[in-house]
Amino acid sequence: MSYVTKYRELDVHFETHNPDDWQPTAHGEFLATYLAEQSFCANKHVLELGAGTGIHTLFLCRQQPTSLTVTEYRQDLLETTKRNVHELHSYCSLHFVVADWLQLEGTFDVVVTNPPFSRCPVPGDRRHFIDRLINNSKQRLKAGGHLVFVQSSMANIGLTKSMLEDNGFTVEIPQSITGPFRQDYYDNPSFMEEVRNYPDGYSLENGQEFETLYIVHARL
Ligand SMILES: C[S@@+](CC[C@H](N)C(=O)[O-])C[C@H]1O[C@@H](n2cnc3c(N)ncnc32)[C@H](O)[C@@H]1O
Repeated sequence: MSYVTKYRELDVHFETHNPDDWQPTAHGEFLATYLAEQSFCANKHVLELGAGTGIHTLFLCRQQPTSLTVTEYRQDLLETTKRNVHELHSYCSLHFVVADWLQLEGTFDVVVTNPPFSRCPVPGDRRHFIDRLINNSKQRLKAGGHLVFVQSSMANIGLTKSMLEDNGFTVEIPQSITGPFRQDYYDNPSFMEEVRNYPDGYSLENGQEFETLYIVHARL
C-alpha cells in the first residue's frame, strides 16, 4: 500500500511563492494522476476550485477544455496559481477568479477540486467544504455536468455518496488508494482527537494509521 502515484513520474514541478500557499499532498497528487489519464474536460467549460499551486490546472488544461476558470479565495494565493500556469495560456482559455468556494457567476460542464480538509476552518467539521460542494455545485453545473473531487475516508465517504444521490447525482468511485496518515495530521492535536472519535475513518497496522483516498466522479 503506497501513496506513491504515477503523478511523480509525470516530471512536473509546482512552486509555492507565499507562506500560505498550499504545498500539494498525496490527496492532490492522487487527483492529478486521475486527471492526467482522463479526457472528460475536452471541449467543455471547466471550473477548478481552490487551485493552489496549479497542480490540477495543468492536467485539466492538457485535456483541452474550451475554457478553464480557476479560483482561489485570496488574490495573493491566486497570484501563485497564475505564476505557475502562465505558460498554459497558449493551450486553453484560462480565467482567474477570486471567490469564496462556489460563490461566483456562471455555469460549467465540469467542477473539479481537492477541497480543504486538514486545514478546514470550522473546528471539528472536516466536511465543511465537501458538504457545500455537494449541496451548492448544482447551481454552477449544467445538466449532465461532472463533479470531480478527492476525499479521505476520514471525511465519511458513505455520507458523500448518499448526499450526492440525494442531490440528483449519479456517483462513481473510479479509483481509491490507501496510504499512511500525512505528517500534518500528527502535527494537529485537534485532528488526532477527531481521529479517535471516528474509528471507521482509518485502519491501524503495526501502530501506524492508514487512510483511504477516493476519487469521487459524479454526474448530474
Ligand atoms: C487542499 S488545498 C488544494 C490545493 C491544490 N488544488 C492542490 O491540490 O494542491 C485547498 C485549496 O483551497 C483553497 N481554499 C481555502 N478556502 C477556500 C475558499 N473558501 N474558496 C476557495 N478556495 C479555498 C486553499 O487556499 C487551497 O489552495
